[in-house]
Amino acid sequence: MPILLAEKLEKTFTAGTATGVTAVRDVDLAVSEGEFLAITGTSGSGKSTLLHMLGGITRPSAGRVLLEGTDLASLDDDALAEIRRRRIGFVFQRYNLLPELTLSENVALPLVLDGAAQARCEAAAREALEAVGMGHRIHHRPDALSGGEQQRGAIARALVTEPAIVLADEPTGALDSANSANVLELLQRLVRERGQTVIMVTHDTSIAEAAGRIVRMRDGRISEVIENHAAPPAGAASS
Ligand SMILES: Nc1ncnc2c1ncn2[C@@H]1O[C@H](COP(=O)(O)OP(=O)(O)OP(=O)(O)O)[C@@H](O)[C@H]1O
Ligand SMILES: [Mg+2]
Repeated sequence: MPILLAEKLEKTFTAGTATGVTAVRDVDLAVSEGEFLAITGTSGSGKSTLLHMLGGITRPSAGRVLLEGTDLASLDDDALAEIRRRRIGFVFQRYNLLPELTLSENVALPLVLDGAAQARCEAAAREALEAVGMGHRIHHRPDALSGGEQQRGAIARALVTEPAIVLADEPTGALDSANSANVLELLQRLVRERGQTVIMVTHDTSIAEAAGRIVRMRDGRISEVIENHAAPPAGAASS
């Protein structure tokens, strides 16, 4: 059974548009546990909209998403929020760090909301921030961080619960090449060493090459699926 299954997914936006915009249409996608998948395509092709539906953030207009066998449409908002918090780590394209919290508090938030003890929250936040090279900025507030630093903080927040699935929207968009390489290596390690499943959205085809399978979107549809044999094999022991 795939860990994530999308069937005939479609999203049409009506609010704030003259005629309605169908951002995603007719998407079928099965993602295996321990897979590193990239979703690529030009700006406006529907990547973020698709990722938000896969992560239970946006409800589809048609079709369905099964996460670990559960139809997300069958869940009320509270149940959906709990699954999102416990099973999914989401890296937003616009980071979405809360300005009044420190970086450490932002990163710990999913654990705090889940009722974890303070000591565990602090330790896990520190560990996640160190993993993205941000251990030296844990007491900074987001507006005192550079864009790339905020982006790495947002990645740490998505990893702090060790979720089954990490959904990352342009996780290297604000990073220089050295930090991009670090983040891609980190995502590959999550798959290889911890068996987590990673879906990464990027418009950059060279970034997408880090994944084992590349799905290309065009005008809201999947236009091409590429098995990327050049990527490090999923589940292989690290050397
Ligand atoms: N809330 C919304 N209301 C109306 N239209 C929307 C909304 N969100 C997205 N769209 C439209 O849907 C299409 C797909 O948007 P989406 O954000 O999914 O693209 P994307 O591939 O992530 O682009 P980018 O690479 O620029 O982030 C775009 O044409 C966009 O204008
Ligand atoms: Mg986007």
